[in-house]
Amino acid sequence: MLIDTHTHLYLKQFDDDRKEVIERAEAAGIKKFFLPNIDSQSIDAMLQMEIDFPDNCFAMMGLHPCSVKENFEEELQIVENWLQKRKFCAIGEIGIDLYWDKSFFEQQKKSFLTQVEWAIDLQLPIVIHCRESIDIVIDLLQPYNGKVKGIFHCFGGTAEQAKRIIDLDFLMGIGGVLTFKKAKLDEVIQEIPLEYLVLETDSPYLAPVPYRGKRNESSYVKIVAEKMAEAKNVTLEKVAELTTNNALNLFK
Ligand code: NI
Repeated sequence: MLIDTHTHLYLKQFDDDRKEVIERAEAAGIKKFFLPNIDSQSIDAMLQMEIDFPDNCFAMMGLHPCSVKENFEEELQIVENWLQKRKFCAIGEIGIDLYWDKSFFEQQKKSFLTQVEWAIDLQLPIVIHCRESIDIVIDLLQPYNGKVKGIFHCFGGTAEQAKRIIDLDFLMGIGGVLTFKKAKLDEVIQEIPLEYLVLETDSPYLAPVPYRGKRNESSYVKIVAEKMAEAKNVTLEKVAELTTNNALNLFK
């Protein structure tokens, strides 16, 4: 069994064939799908997936850094209300994004740390988005070392950064980037024990080779798992066993 620890299956890119996408993934061995939230606009569609696929789909709650704008306090209030109303598997996705827009950096930091503290109160893991901000996020988490666990989603950092993440006892989410030659992530993950890795797609984004540039979907987790097995010189079964255990232990 494999797990897609990060998929936005609820987005409109899947409106025409969501059921088929899940069936294809299940046929490839991917049995569970963890759904990171984006903002108040994505919640209804995400929660509908849990209703439609109760054995396979599990929702997170959180405010994505790219949705942190002037109204971030209202958005955070909505997240907080949901966290009080029902149980979620994690708080996510949260973090810092300095790739698209740096103008809300202070608000992004404030939103991130607020949500980290909610995660500690509720004893939930966090799922982190850290585009162009991996060292900043690692630094922000230092005061919380040992108090919170989670995943650095879409990890594409260096071996040095991986070591700092392991020191925080966090996991790294590996997706399609592992198949991109220039990223050299296959060399970096040779330095990371399998105990700290989980599989993900971030679908519909970041499809692996040979589907790069097309819509990503959860069945492609298998391609990433095969590439991981090759890079780490272990069997696919070993990758499946360990990454699945890591994900299930984290999300409980
Ligand atoms: Ni995402």
